[in-house]
Amino acid sequence: MTGDQTGGPVALITGGASGIGAATARRLAGHGWRVVVADLDTTGAATVAEECGGRFVATDVASPDDNERAVAYTVEEFGRLDAAVLNAAVAGRCALHDFTPQRYRDTMRTDLDGVVYGLHAALPRMRQQGGGHIVVTSSIAGLTGSPDVFYATAKHALIGLVRSAAPLLEADHIRLNTVCPGLVDTPALASMRATLLAHGLLLADPDEVAAAIETVLADERTGRAWSIQAGRTAEPVEFPVPQLASR
Ligand SMILES: NC(=O)c1ccc[n+]([C@@H]2O[C@H](COP(=O)([O-])OP(=O)(O)OC[C@H]3O[C@@H](n4cnc5c(N)ncnc54)[C@H](O)[C@@H]3O)[C@@H](O)[C@H]2O)c1
Repeated sequence: MTGDQTGGPVALITGGASGIGAATARRLAGHGWRVVVADLDTTGAATVAEECGGRFVATDVASPDDNERAVAYTVEEFGRLDAAVLNAAVAGRCALHDFTPQRYRDTMRTDLDGVVYGLHAALPRMRQQGGGHIVVTSSIAGLTGSPDVFYATAKHALIGLVRSAAPLLEADHIRLNTVCPGLVDTPALASMRATLLAHGLLLADPDEVAAAIETVLADERTGRAWSIQAGRTAEPVEFPVPQLASR
């Protein structure tokens, strides 16, 4: 068991049963955070929570009620919510050739709605306690596009959400940032792993992304989209800012 269970800051991590979320839970717990692992996969979440000396809560991020419950449980168990890492996602359930409205919704309900509901659930508690930090996991696919069209659409939207909402939250001392990892060696990539490596592509270790999330949590800036690439230092993306046309 790792982590200081007596008074460290408190993080709720969605999608914390696997991959980047699990690595983030382990890393934060190892550095004194108290963690709550929220996931659909309760067996995996329980295992990670046990390793971290934390808690787990069964959560479908696509459910507004589940997000409210996860925040309430975190506060019940640990008294506060310093960070929410809104990280759960699925690969796109369809592309253009096999599109159905249901498959499209099945993608968006987790990858976009799940973050919006998590944000909405975390904000009242963070306002009440005088601040907090929310980190959303987007993707390089949110910056460049991807053949996984609707996954990339959701990940672009998350960057727009963060850039739009962050300035509105500054007065409440709530920071809101997003991380945009490149390829990461997690179960989500398992079926493509051999092909990606055969093409010479670098896969980041999930703990590299967890370390970047820890860096972002410690950074004073808000409203940023951080690029995270294997073997490189995490840094905020500089977006072009066109001026509104005027006469
Ligand atoms: N692996 C990569 O190459 C990569 C690259 C860029 C971004 N990302 C992003 O990183 C995040 C984590 O991905 P990962 O690679 O660790 O994947 P992963 O599949 O290892 O973990 C995702 C976790 O989310 C959980 N989950 C899925 N739907 C859920 C729901 N509705 N409610 C609650 N939990 C749910 C799963 O049970 C799983 O534990 C995702 O947002 C993903 O899009 C991954």
